[in-house]
Amino acid sequence: MTAKSVIIGGGTGFIGKHLGELLSSKGYDIMNVARMPASKNISWSTIEASGLPKDTSAVVNCAGQQFMDFTKSWTPGFKQNVQNSRIYTTKALATAINKAQDKPKVFVLVTGVGAYEPSNVNKYDESSPTTGTDFFSRLVVEWEKAAQVDPPVRLVIIRSGAVLGRWGGMIKNMFLPFFLGFGGPIGDGKQYLPWIHIDDLTRLINFAIENENVKGVLNGVSPNVITNEEFTKSFAKALGRPAFIPVPEAILNFALHPERAMIMTKGQHVIPKRVLEYGFKYRYENINDACKEFAHLFPKKNV
Ligand SMILES: NC(=O)c1ccc[n+]([C@@H]2O[C@H](COP(=O)([O-])OP(=O)(O)OC[C@H]3O[C@@H](n4cnc5c(N)ncnc54)[C@H](OP(=O)(O)O)[C@@H]3O)[C@@H](O)[C@H]2O)c1
Repeated sequence: MTAKSVIIGGGTGFIGKHLGELLSSKGYDIMNVARMPASKNISWSTIEASGLPKDTSAVVNCAGQQFMDFTKSWTPGFKQNVQNSRIYTTKALATAINKAQDKPKVFVLVTGVGAYEPSNVNKYDESSPTTGTDFFSRLVVEWEKAAQVDPPVRLVIIRSGAVLGRWGGMIKNMFLPFFLGFGGPIGDGKQYLPWIHIDDLTRLINFAIENENVKGVLNGVSPNVITNEEFTKSFAKALGRPAFIPVPEAILNFALHPERAMIMTKGQHVIPKRVLEYGFKYRYENINDACKEFAHLFPKKNV
């Protein structure tokens, strides 16, 4: 590998793939850590047994079992998989970094704003406490603990909001109903929806890799806080469709389990205070601009 070599855990997923494309366009060599073999993949067992490839300059973890996989019931076994796929992969990379002779400069971990207790009243910046009172905040607390790396390796933890982009996450799930005119707010739509455009999240990870003063927790969200109702209106408008059919909270609770449905039925007002202090410039600060970019069946690539 070269002096600009990045290892991406979960580099085959929505965020990881987009990140790999951005970093490759900037001249980085990319290697994914993944469960299936491929030319640019190494396995988790290789990382555990042999450590990081020589000359790795940065490590990013974007691995994690998709919990909004609606084909999977919210059973204890599935919850365990959701946890282990985040905590064990993070621990495996942190251990490999700590054991490496020739250490990478930075470890970037992508977690979630689920760290903060859902509330329609509280406002959270990076110094706010993570309560650990519900499944997701408990998960994030354990996930971030697993990332401990020894100095001088910089640790950057990006607590991401819902990542908006055409080919993954929440938009992939709701594109068709909205496109067909069956979209609508979730519950009363008043819950906050912390969000970030996929381009900005990957640019923020790149920013964290390249700026040696960046360390600690960053809230990976747009500075413009919106509610689910505001998102619904904006996305429907960008698609040129109505969005009057609300999704009752009780139906989501029944179909998904209340513990999982809370990701959609509840939200947090999250501010990216430290991201702004570091001088990061967003490409999509405004939800209308973001929705215009991905509200197409086949949007153009914009890495
Ligand atoms: N998308 C969002 O809105 C969002 C928001 C906040 C935080 N995040 C976090 O960001 C991370 C990536 O999200 P994403 O949207 O890119 O997810 P994704 O598209 O589902 O990709 C997940 C990646 O994790 C790997 N993975 C899945 N199950 C695994 C398991 N059991 N063990 C090891 N690796 C596993 C997959 O790699 P292989 O199948 O190739 O092994 C895949 O590359 C997740 O941890 C997620 O919680 C996402």
